[in-house]
Amino acid sequence: MKSYVLGAVSGLAIVASTAASAGPEAEVLHYWTSGGEAKSVAVLQEEFASNGGTWTDMPVAGGGGDAAMTALRARVLSGNAPTAVQLKGPAIQEWYEEGVLADITAVAEANNWADVLPASIAGHMKCEDTWCAAPVNVHRVDWIWANADVLNANGIAMPTTWDEFNAAAEKLQAAGIIPLAHGGQAWQDATVFEAVALGILGADGFRKAFVDLDIDTLKSDEMVAVFDQMRTMRGFVDDNFSGRDWNLATAMVMNGEAAFQIMGDWAKGEFLAAGKAPGEDFLCASTPGEGFLYNVDSFAMFDVDGDDKKAGQELLAKLVVGQNFQKVFNLNKGSIPARTDVSLDEFDSCALLSADDMQASSDSGSLLPSYAHGMAMRGAQAGAITDVVTAHFNSDMSSQEAVEMLANAVANSL
Ligand code: GAL
Repeated sequence: MKSYVLGAVSGLAIVASTAASAGPEAEVLHYWTSGGEAKSVAVLQEEFASNGGTWTDMPVAGGGGDAAMTALRARVLSGNAPTAVQLKGPAIQEWYEEGVLADITAVAEANNWADVLPASIAGHMKCEDTWCAAPVNVHRVDWIWANADVLNANGIAMPTTWDEFNAAAEKLQAAGIIPLAHGGQAWQDATVFEAVALGILGADGFRKAFVDLDIDTLKSDEMVAVFDQMRTMRGFVDDNFSGRDWNLATAMVMNGEAAFQIMGDWAKGEFLAAGKAPGEDFLCASTPGEGFLYNVDSFAMFDVDGDDKKAGQELLAKLVVGQNFQKVFNLNKGSIPARTDVSLDEFDSCALLSADDMQASSDSGSLLPSYAHGMAMRGAQAGAITDVVTAHFNSDMSSQEAVEMLANAVANSL
């Protein structure tokens, strides 16, 4: 009894002292829960805390963020939005149109975001003429990762065409190695699909299909060839692929159980967190074909009451676009800075390749938004496409049936 009373009293004391030391605070909803991701988000938590902020973590596990977006909708509908949310692409503008986002224009202007961000990235962060999100990075999606020893031992070079990939995969399979580490979750199927689509359709075809949603391109012979390649690749994954998390697929490449993974460069964050070195333990190359599929992570602030929370939003927005954070976070995350004025001296060869290719593809018009990672179109259309991709991958549907279903699904979602 006595200790209960004491406990209650000290509990009150803690509440009182928290109230007295109020300052910037943020409840942050994100889906960075794998090893590499957790290390990355810790960089932000530390920087926020060392600037006087109090961080309340709301991680929602689930690669690609589908579960996090469901949790977000539930919170907003119940009138209790988180202060800050890892949100990206056209979903930012969709939430803005619902009237629930905070305006962070003052922070953006005070910190000259317009001068330090490429126009292509800044465009995603704007809602009408206001700034409504803060970018943290540029992830590239169209990557292929490989176990260096496994390739060496089997006399295989990184493939530069899909035919080379198929030949390498067949050779590996004959040697008893799983050619492609894959997790059968819809967003991972979509990730592989869009890399194949970029390679086979080319940058213009990709843009017509996944940015313009051009029905003729969606049911073209080239799209049939994309599904044919997906069917071939279905034969290169192991029997236990269903439902596997992406980072477990990365681990299969790390430990030599599998040779390749097609995944965005958050996979590099996993290799690095496990102490693996690019060029030695693992290899990176863009998937066969021209172009660059970008995926920019960002934070949007939701409309909340309270000066402490508003101060937290301002501090968070300022920090994530800050030079130091953009460097340290991205060294861990596998991505490259969104800012153009951050030195890449400490970045590895995969990051330098990404930065060079991003510039070159921007110059040549082949810098494209990732559909699988929510950058190219609104949720309803992206969901309609992914449903078809997954249905095809997990059945014996023909490529011809798949393109017809794809064209109908997109037409119905417009
Ligand atoms: C992407 C996101 C990355 C990474 C990955 C796996 O959509 O942009 O930051 O978290 O999903 O969850």
